[in-house]
Amino acid sequence: MNEVRHFLSLNDLSAEELYAVIDRALELKAMVKRGDIYQPLKNCTLAMIFEKASTRTRVSFETGMTQLGGHAMFLSPHDTQLGRGEPVEDSARVISRMVDVVMIRTFEHSMVEKFAEYSRVPVINALTDKFHPCQLLADMMTWIEQRGNPVGKTAAWVGDGNNVCHSWMNAARLFGFHLNAACPEGYDPDADVLTQNNNHVTMFRDPTEAVKNADVVITDTWASMGQEDEKQARLQAFADYQVTEDVMALAKQHALFMHCLPAYRGMEVANEVIEGPQSVVWDEAENRLHAQKALVEGLMLGFATHQVEAAA
Ligand code: CP
Ligand code: NVA
Repeated sequence: MNEVRHFLSLNDLSAEELYAVIDRALELKAMVKRGDIYQPLKNCTLAMIFEKASTRTRVSFETGMTQLGGHAMFLSPHDTQLGRGEPVEDSARVISRMVDVVMIRTFEHSMVEKFAEYSRVPVINALTDKFHPCQLLADMMTWIEQRGNPVGKTAAWVGDGNNVCHSWMNAARLFGFHLNAACPEGYDPDADVLTQNNNHVTMFRDPTEAVKNADVVITDTWASMGQEDEKQARLQAFADYQVTEDVMALAKQHALFMHCLPAYRGMEVANEVIEGPQSVVWDEAENRLHAQKALVEGLMLGFATHQVEAAA
């Protein structure tokens, strides 16, 4: 029997496999637009465990499974035994004997690691406090779709050193670009993620320095899910970290603006930027569907590999 592959962070796939997932996602998107029916996952079920809220992740995984000919099952802690304290190890052994693939959105990253350890089937991280790798598949797909090869280019992160920022840092190393990250003091990314991606990440305090000549500018909410109590303190700490038209003007002329959404206008991003001509946030959201279909197909049927170009 082949070894089960999981997707708990981008590090679970090689650079060649990640590029191949993006190629495949672009193909699957074209097939949907042509009206092709492609159902390789008939009779397959995806269990979707959500311990936090979601719009994009739930809709994209559920629709993706339908399009691939399978089924998606929504499981919330409010009406499963997971929410009443059944151990993760037991839940993983039971659920993975019945379904073909599992997707989990939760708080502690160690929960998805433990689930994967006891699971017979692939486990996908659909956001933890540490990483949001599915978001980065869609983000890299969007960047490549809009501008081609990202190797040697520069992305600029403005805001919290959070789960999405950590995944952008991993992406910088694996996809071969550079990430400038501007975070306020006290809100830097985790040291272990910084160390692993050291050669591909430069830290700044001043957002205007970080975005200079960037090809892509990215931000995210100042207070992630689970940080609701910190909102007031964060409003003060992040006051100078809004992506405004003036900030965008410092990046390259045709730089893209990206945001995983949900967005808070007037906080991390100005309305004129998210609604402006450089914003690709709606394509980015749609691409969750196509990128995750390529991921699920790869985990269940095997990944292709793509020859990766070296940086200039
Ligand atoms: N970007 C993202 O993961 O959105 P949801 O929280 O709506 O799933
Ligand atoms: N950093 C945000 C991303 C939401 C998709 C959060 O964790 O809430």
